[in-house]
This record gives sequence, structure tokens and C-alpha cells, in this order.
Amino acid sequence: ALDNGVGLTPAMGWNSWNQFGLNVTEELIRQTSEQIVDLGLADVGYEYVVIDDGWPNKTRDAQGRMQANLTIFPSGIANLSDYVHSLGLKFGIYSDAGALTCGGHMGSYGHFEDDAETWAEWGVDYLKAGGKRGRGEGWRSDPYTQHHSLAAPSHAGRLVSLGAGREIYYSICNWGIVNPWRWGAEVGNSWRTTADIAANFDRVFSNLDNNVGLSQFAAPGGWNDPDMLEVGSGALTLQDQRSHFALWAAVKSPLIIGTDLRRVAISPESLAILKNRDIIAVNQDPLGVAAERVWKQGSAEVFAGPLQGGDRVVVLFNR
Ligand code: GLA
Repeated sequence: ALDNGVGLTPAMGWNSWNQFGLNVTEELIRQTSEQIVDLGLADVGYEYVVIDDGWPNKTRDAQGRMQANLTIFPSGIANLSDYVHSLGLKFGIYSDAGALTCGGHMGSYGHFEDDAETWAEWGVDYLKAGGKRGRGEGWRSDPYTQHHSLAAPSHAGRLVSLGAGREIYYSICNWGIVNPWRWGAEVGNSWRTTADIAANFDRVFSNLDNNVGLSQFAAPGGWNDPDMLEVGSGALTLQDQRSHFALWAAVKSPLIIGTDLRRVAISPESLAILKNRDIIAVNQDPLGVAAERVWKQGSAEVFAGPLQGGDRVVVLFNR
């Protein structure tokens, strides 16, 4: 397994993508970071603030280094990262193995080591790495045309060596293509097992279904990732939000909030779900064994798994 000292329990934090897509700004990241502290989310374990797609400039600088789009990040990423750190939180960023990200922005292809150095300079604690490279080159069938395997020695490996004294959580995002649960733990700390989630019942629970059967691959240091949380977003009822959160916690998914946390944007009820200490404790249980679906009949199903000290978590889910 990737021995980088992080991800011993699933990552907890916030990411801009589900709610804001490509519309990220420095102000959004600053305000959200402040809210993570002010709403008490930091106190229950949420720590990574991750800017997803949309932040880079269209061109590299004269030294070939990636730069932020300074129109939307006027202080630059290093300053923003300092600010996030000053609040006691950790800072994350997104890039892609391809020349372009899924959102059409600049990716890391051909610059894995340069970019790893940039992340380290910027004080990045978490990298979400998309896997777009190789489209049209048989990428769906051959893991070695995939970014993550190809780039592992340079990109993830370089991050590990640059992280000496600093730890960088490496989040693999290739949508479950080419069985990342079989190789993900060698190069990263979690791997997406599914297509993108969306804030509706079908998309949330089809991601759960697609994550079934994979519990054996999760362990401290490397986790299955059925995608970020939709608690507080879209058309999900409170009951669905509770099921979503409890099940994600039990299968040891990273708990990455995807909703708008700024003033009045999240309801007290949704916030209470995200702050449920008992459920978070299941997710962060040091034994690190993911619950599995052990029974299903019609719309009723049971997920169960062991916890430290001989306890078991059992989730009864009625769709
Ligand atoms: C992919 C990922 C999303 C997000 C976008 C950004 O679709 O699955 O989570 O990172 O790329 O373009």
C-alpha cells in the first residue's frame, strides 16, 4: 500500500464540485473554510477544504508551472492555502492526468513531477486526481494506459517524497473504470468506485449499489469512494439524507461534504446529520473494516461490519 501516513481513516472534508461545478472563487473557498469552523464541522472531524475543477489558468508560466486563474483567485493559491491552514484546516486541490480536465481546464499530463512540486510549494495536503488521460487510446480496458498507474512513480511517488515531513492524501478519481480497487491502494488513499453522484435518490443509491461487493478492498490507508456527499442538496428528503450519510459512513467512504455551507444555505436539520458524532465514529473507527451488504429482500436491506473492540455496525435500510 501507499505508505504516506495519511488516510488511516477515511478523509473528511468539503469539496466545491457537487454544488458549484466550475464556478469556484477565492471568496467561496475562504467563506466555506470559515463556516467549517463556525458551524462546528471542524470540531467533529471535517478537515480538508478541496477546490475541485475550474481554478487553473489557461497557460503555464515561463517555467512551465501551473498557475491559478487570478481573476477568480486574486491572492493566488499559496496565500489561500495559508489562510485555510491558519483556520486549523487542511488544503486540497484537483488536477487531472490528461492534458485537460473533465471540465476542459488544464491537466497535468507531461508535467506530473513539475505539478507535484507546485502542490508541495503551495502547501497542498490533498490531491484529487482525475483520470482523463488516454481517452481514445484503449484507456477503458488497459490500466497501464491510465494516468494513475502510469503516473504513479512520478506523480504520486514524487508527492510522497516531497511530502517528507508533510503528508499528502491522494484521491484517485477514475469512476471505477478498470477496477481501481485492485490497484488503487498502491498509488493512492482512496479511489472512486462509481460514476458521479447527483442530488437525487436514484443517483445516490445507485452509487451505493455499485459500491457493493468491494468492502474487502478497503483498509486503513486506502478506501472505496462512492463519491461525495449530497446531504443538504437538491431533492433529497431528510430521511434520504440520513440514509445516505449512515450508509456512506458504514462502508467507510470518505465523508466529503458537497453542499453550500455559507450563511443560511444549509438547514439546521441537514447540518445535524453531517455532525452526528455517533455515525462519524463508525466511519472513523480505527479498525477500518468497511461494512458490506449482507442481506437484501425487495426494498429492504442490511449492511453490517465489525468495529474495534468487538462491536458491530448494522444498518437497516428500507428504500
Ligand atoms: C469528474 C469527477 C468530478 C469532478 C469533475 C471535474 O467528473 O468525477 O467529481 O471532479 O470531473 O471536472
